[in-house]
Amino acid sequence: MTPHVRALRMVNFRGYADETALFAPGLNIAVGENAQGKTNLLEAISFALTGSSPRTSTDAETVRWDEDFTRVEGRIALGSDDGERSVAVGYAPGQKKRLTVDGASAKSLADYAAGGAGARVVTFFPDDIRIVKGAPSDRREFLDTLLSSLRPSYARAVGEYAKAVQQRNQLLRRIRDGFSSGKTLETWDRKVVELGTRLLEGRAGAIPPLDENFKRSMRALYGPEKAAVGYSYSATPEDYSEALKNAHSADVERGTTSVGPHRDDFEVSLDGVDLNIYGSQGQQRLATLALKFAARDHVRSETGEDPILLMDDVMSELDERRRDYLAEYFLESAQAIVSTTNLEYFEEGVIGRARVIRIYGGTISDTTSGGAGESGVG
Ligand SMILES: Nc1ncnc2c1ncn2[C@@H]1O[C@H](COP(=O)(O)OP(=O)(O)O)[C@@H](O)[C@H]1O
Ligand SMILES: [Mg+2]
Repeated sequence: MTPHVRALRMVNFRGYADETALFAPGLNIAVGENAQGKTNLLEAISFALTGSSPRTSTDAETVRWDEDFTRVEGRIALGSDDGERSVAVGYAPGQKKRLTVDGASAKSLADYAAGGAGARVVTFFPDDIRIVKGAPSDRREFLDTLLSSLRPSYARAVGEYAKAVQQRNQLLRRIRDGFSSGKTLETWDRKVVELGTRLLEGRAGAIPPLDENFKRSMRALYGPEKAAVGYSYSATPEDYSEALKNAHSADVERGTTSVGPHRDDFEVSLDGVDLNIYGSQGQQRLATLALKFAARDHVRSETGEDPILLMDDVMSELDERRRDYLAEYFLESAQAIVSTTNLEYFEEGVIGRARVIRIYGGTISDTTSGGAGESGVG
């Protein structure tokens, strides 16, 4: 059995006062009208399993209005044996977030997010279309989040690199304003290159498998056109040091660091056409979904375990053929938790094999289970 979440309790999380949801392996459908709490539920699962919200970097936003803390607790069935792990994430604004695994403090957020909690997640929120449609920073964030979920050392490198670039930028401005000499720059360059190279190595290793997986997902989701993901460097690993050095005077003038992984991008294309610029809304949405499926395959091949799929409102805007394809895909996944306003997006036979969770006004009512519904209530 692959890891899956059995139960989630949310205390003061967004609109939820104190609610518990039970999940089954395979497909779980969270159904409810608009603004009832579907997205909040998926966000809470991700919060419990990774220690962070996939929707906001401001944890305080997840605290229920007029309350002073939030807490989510999860019970996770592990992949290796019939073991179970209890995890909890607690946050009170102004205090350090508390992450616990079976009652003990997690080593770090990076460790918790990279498997420490017992299961990884791949999320899809409608707003994720930014990855294809939006700025390079949206694409870098997608890559960095994926790689961080695989290795805590990558997550740490991302944080340290960002800090090093920030400090280099401060120095650049001091040099520009005559408070520091240009000589000190070389020391910072070495530090920046050392950390930045770790990011470049991580990304360079992930792009070829992602490209492979993306091609396959796009064939299934979209059509026979040739899809591709290709990395574009602001400076290649071989030229990185040299490029940074060559940029010295321009960087001093502008007070920012112009080359390195924080300036890189990747292109998502279909038949050679950049979907960021020329893609239709529909193409961009399907490409985003295909990237998420590619991420799932990558996690599977790197860790030997399927991540849990958390997919918000994923069925809308799709035609019937694609909805049917997705339903099968989710049924065959270790665990997929999918939200919808419309249960009719799923065929009777599919609903019969899924667990249906009804959400109304921040309460989770009557979780019925179908054929697969063995969720270990307790
Ligand atoms: N921090 C919060 N405290 C209380 N309610 C919140 C908080 N954040 C969002 N909400 C409420 O959650 C509701 C939306 O829930 P959501 O999960 O996005 O709905 P949907 O079912 O459409 O996905 C809104 O009514 C919003 O006001
Ligand atoms: Mg929603």
